Amino acid sequence: MKHTFTVTVSRGLEDVLATELRRMGLQKVTPERGTVRFTGPLKDGLRACLWCRTGSRVLLQIARFQANHPDELYEALHRIRWEEHLAPDGMLWVDFVGTSRDIRHSQFGARLTKDAIVDRLRTPSGTRPGVDRDNPDVRVHIHLKHSVFTVSIDLSGASLHWRTPKRRMTEAPLKENLAAALLMMMDWPKRSRAGEPLIDPMCGSGTIVQEGAAIAANLPPGRFRRDWGFSRWRGHDPAAWRALLQESHEAQVRPKSLVLGFDHDEDVVAVARYNCQQLGMSNLTIKKRALSDLQPPEGAPPGLLVTNPPYGERIGDDTLFGLYGHLGDLLRNRMLGYGVGVLAPAGPLSKSIGLRTDKRHVLHNGPLECRYLELSISTEAPQRY
Ligand SMILES: C[S@@+](CC[C@H](N)C(=O)[O-])C[C@H]1O[C@@H](n2cnc3c(N)ncnc32)[C@H](O)[C@@H]1O
Repeated sequence: MKHTFTVTVSRGLEDVLATELRRMGLQKVTPERGTVRFTGPLKDGLRACLWCRTGSRVLLQIARFQANHPDELYEALHRIRWEEHLAPDGMLWVDFVGTSRDIRHSQFGARLTKDAIVDRLRTPSGTRPGVDRDNPDVRVHIHLKHSVFTVSIDLSGASLHWRTPKRRMTEAPLKENLAAALLMMMDWPKRSRAGEPLIDPMCGSGTIVQEGAAIAANLPPGRFRRDWGFSRWRGHDPAAWRALLQESHEAQVRPKSLVLGFDHDEDVVAVARYNCQQLGMSNLTIKKRALSDLQPPEGAPPGLLVTNPPYGERIGDDTLFGLYGHLGDLLRNRMLGYGVGVLAPAGPLSKSIGLRTDKRHVLHNGPLECRYLELSISTEAPQRY
């Protein structure tokens, strides 16, 4: 049976996610604002859960209808065969996104949805589903736009950026799905297959290099997650899931690339190393090294440098302009032939790198609006006069 799936994504990354889903072989992949849709059997939705590096949630659409009044909404929700999704004594959570003239608060919409589901499933003896925000058996997602309601089962559960519950943070860490997107935008999957190195000279907790190493080894980002939105959902297909896990073991490759993360802060380096261990990543090296010591790895071809230098708003420092200028000089003089991606805050800081950018993307790092600068460093050292 064919279903419609929606994968949610941070704004600005819709096309990156669409490319990723197409590469997984998924069908009718269509980017929209903040989401990408595709169609296929349930197994394709499970595949997206296991393999999608850049998205946030995978939603399986179970109904879509227009309702112009809360009573109409309740009736339409009550007609859905919720018994196919949740047991009468199961636990439920509803995420409601959007408002309309009649549903001015999403909380009201969520309560009304919960009531319709509970009323449908209540047994003559009075057993009825309960509500649990943190650990529900089924998470229902409702999207409302122009009086059209899309009702879905959230197959992912916790957001897909969670790779391992044991991750430790340093200051201003990137989400894993954003880090993966920065790499995809610079063609890292192809570059890593060609054996190019990857460097992050200000790696913090190591998110970019950990994602890079996982891509290079073709390891699925969901490999450590045990609890998914579908785990206790009545429609789940455990055999299909087991088959996907088996396929993923066979898909693993021996990486050809060097992956290197540096940071000048010893404590930060220790955290990054700990995170690598938790992820079982052996194909990457983390070292304490100041940016000023940046050098391309000896004996390796030119490759990719992706980094997320400190931000004014989160790591306050007057010398940030100097740091960005210094980064630009080092890139120009030492990283000859490299492709470079720099995620910097919107505003004057990014300009102080002083290099011509090939592309400049508007992205969001949590609430911060950022610029992602794509640069290609000339293969020849600049002339000195
Ligand atoms: C915004 S954080 C990077 C966060 C990282 N992307 C993550 O996901 O955890 C910037 C990092 O740059 C490091 N840093 C700042 N100045 C540096 C320098 N001169 N040399 C090397 N590392 C530096 C800081 O210690 C900090 O860990």
